[in-house]
Amino acid sequence: MSLFGTRAVSSMWLLVLSLLVLPLQYTQAAQILALVPLAAKSHWNVLDTVLQTLVARGHNVTVITPFLKGRSIANYTEVDISHTLPSGIAMPWENIMGECSVANNLPYLNGRHRFTCDIVFGLDEFWNTIRSHKFDLFITELLASSCDSYVSHHLQIPQILVTASHMNTWYHDTFASHTNPAYVSTFHSGFATPSNFVQRFMNFYDYLYSHLVYKWVDREATKIGRKYFGPDVPDADTVMKNTSLVFINGHFTVDLPKPVLPNFVDIGGIHLVPPKPLPQDIKQFIDESPNGVIYFTFGSTVKMDTAPLHIQKAFVEGLSGISHRVLWKYESATLGQLPDNVMIRKWFPQRDILNYSKVDLFISHGGMAGVYEAIDSGIPVLGIPLFFDQKHNIANVVHWGAGKMLDYNTLTNETLVEAINEMIYNRAKYRKNAMELSKRFKDRPRTPKQEIVYWTEYVIKHKGAHHLKSAALKLNRFQYFLLDIIFLLFFALTTIALFVYIATKSITHKLSTLSKHKRE
Ligand SMILES: *[C@@H]1O[C@H](CO)[C@@H](O)[C@H](O)[C@H]1NC(C)=O
Ligand SMILES: *[C@@H]1O[C@H](CO)[C@@H](O)[C@H](O)[C@H]1NC(C)=O
Repeated sequence: MSLFGTRAVSSMWLLVLSLLVLPLQYTQAAQILALVPLAAKSHWNVLDTVLQTLVARGHNVTVITPFLKGRSIANYTEVDISHTLPSGIAMPWENIMGECSVANNLPYLNGRHRFTCDIVFGLDEFWNTIRSHKFDLFITELLASSCDSYVSHHLQIPQILVTASHMNTWYHDTFASHTNPAYVSTFHSGFATPSNFVQRFMNFYDYLYSHLVYKWVDREATKIGRKYFGPDVPDADTVMKNTSLVFINGHFTVDLPKPVLPNFVDIGGIHLVPPKPLPQDIKQFIDESPNGVIYFTFGSTVKMDTAPLHIQKAFVEGLSGISHRVLWKYESATLGQLPDNVMIRKWFPQRDILNYSKVDLFISHGGMAGVYEAIDSGIPVLGIPLFFDQKHNIANVVHWGAGKMLDYNTLTNETLVEAINEMIYNRAKYRKNAMELSKRFKDRPRTPKQEIVYWTEYVIKHKGAHHLKSAALKLNRFQYFLLDIIFLLFFALTTIALFVYIATKSITHKLSTLSKHKRE
């Protein structure tokens, strides 16, 4: 079955012409199976865009997901698991801060990831789907467990993973793609690159910690695999290592350059849609502001009205004391008397607001989607990161001079207003840096969607494209870290040192007895 069939072509010349063009475009429509391991909207947005890109290209996608479109799309099939997966949308502050704190983040996510595997692999719908269809490729999110790789192993098809944020530090060992923590900052780090001894130490610590915690919590993944796919399947890490390619929702213009393998492909900004004109009321509110506008949101995962009172108070009092108008995404109407300069809505067309030229500043929790929207539009960011990768996302923007970071623990009305005023006062400088970052971010040989199409078809065409993988995957840890060689050198040097020591000792002894004899 070809997407660009030649049946309709009648004229000889057209046929010749199309044959010249065909090899560039010719592609086999693939049958793709996908799975959503975490019911969090921001994660789904990334995976969904990847899948829709492939559908638009003409491939056939079947996805096991709790997020339903509510309408039918040609060549796109949903296997509904919304009745079995708890949703992570708009959670209370308390839960998020407890479960997703840096120390607890991985065990929490790993638990939810394995929960999904356990649920999905036990569903009849899952088995019916994989039995009734012949799939060519499996796509899932690279998150916090290897349990879903058993799907590709079972079907003997290649697997592509997609990250919702920049690279998950804890997977470097699995893919034998270790990065040097002396300068490549980890997933949770609060700096773009460590700049002193303390930060290097913390970065190294988090690099080790992430790996050890991941290996510890994910030991259960193999049990899940053997429970559903038979007692003889390999361990989860071995199955995971077989991954063909990883799409990373990052970009080196933002994340800083680092060495990466060819099967790690940046698609940062994939979710960005072309901006639309603003709704009339919002446009009017912005246009009529005497001093410019600030857009403020803490995203969709945490419910702002469940934030500690001192934080809500700091915002209400702080924002009422500035001369800018503010658009604030807030879920309930319990804020009491609001100042005239603040407009509150449960939802705003964020992309379109950030892209509107009269918006001066974005106050954000640092979620990847919003940060990329701000970078794309060249808007400076005042970040108040809460959890997960958010500190790191804000730190990157700060690194490029396009933002500032505040700590929510110590946030007061004064620190907030001071930071806003500083950024407004120096707005020309921040704006210039943000625009430069934006230009570099957008200057690419292929759009993220083109990367997705190209590399997905590459993997299918080359039967898993296993030639892209690092040769290091065949080494054990002793060999990889050259411990065997270091040990041998250490042994050889100690032996030589010992030999020299004994030799000199015996020579000096002989010489001294000789000279004693002479004197006598
Ligand atoms: C995509 O959908 C169209 C219309 O339903 C159908 O004719 C075509 O065969 C589908 N393609 C694949 C690859 O299944
Ligand atoms: C690795 O993936 C290929 C398909 O790309 C499959 O044929 C092979 O059996 C897989 N190996 C393991 C260990 O799962």
